[in-house]
Amino acid sequence: MTRLLHLSDPHFGAADEATARSFLDCAAELAPDLTVLSGDLTMRARRSELAAAKSFVDQLPQPHFVIPGNHDIPAFNQPFDRVFRPFRRYRETFGPDLEPILRKGSIEIVGLNSSRGIGPQLDWSKGILSQAQLQRAASRFASPSPGLRILTLHHPLLAPPDHRRDVVKPLPALVSLLTASHVDLVLCGHFHQSLIGIVGKDAKWSTIVSQAPTVCSTRLQGEPPGFHMIHHDGDSLRIVLHRFDQTRFIECSVMDFRRAGTGWQPIS
Ligand SMILES: [Fe+2]
Ligand SMILES: [Fe+2]
Repeated sequence: MTRLLHLSDPHFGAADEATARSFLDCAAELAPDLTVLSGDLTMRARRSELAAAKSFVDQLPQPHFVIPGNHDIPAFNQPFDRVFRPFRRYRETFGPDLEPILRKGSIEIVGLNSSRGIGPQLDWSKGILSQAQLQRAASRFASPSPGLRILTLHHPLLAPPDHRRDVVKPLPALVSLLTASHVDLVLCGHFHQSLIGIVGKDAKWSTIVSQAPTVCSTRLQGEPPGFHMIHHDGDSLRIVLHRFDQTRFIECSVMDFRRAGTGWQPIS
């Protein structure tokens, strides 16, 4: 059995300290094999926010795996940095690699950076992947899977009905990569809502998507802070949603999946 803790969007600068402390206590008790934080560590990559985020990350159970989100870029109060070196401060704090990779036991995880300082899109908060990034991820998945193959990026693949246009682009190309590389699980965030489901239903391979809510920020989208605990054992995978109930994080709901020849399907 492998146990993964997936959290997202702590947003230091708009984080609730008591919720963050409660989460860290809960995470230490859960003692996962790997902790994955899928971006938006800060609000605007201010130095004080990055320092608080670094202290939080340093207290996560080890090993941990961190990627940036769209809020980890300075806003237009620092236009030069925003345009020419959007991740300078993030890199100074968390290391130079915006797209880390890790193999540990039965887990293989590849990170993708879907956030941009500027770009052709009018809404800077939306997620974009280039062909070069997709090709690089495919090449990183070239060797045989050790058991559970994971991709993590900040921006979402699944959307509630009123956010259909806010998924990462180009979604069809990303789903093609997941199918071709037989990726088992995608970990992402951004909407501050828990969404768990499948992509690639009509393709030759279906992949589980875990979109974690915000873990401790005050920027709530109609649901309390939470995180996902993922339990993997062979061809079985369970995602447990934990929610903050004003005093502590408690188990709230469970989704089970089973892997067969064409990928993963939910068990009803
Ligand atoms: Fe966020
Ligand atoms: Fe975001």
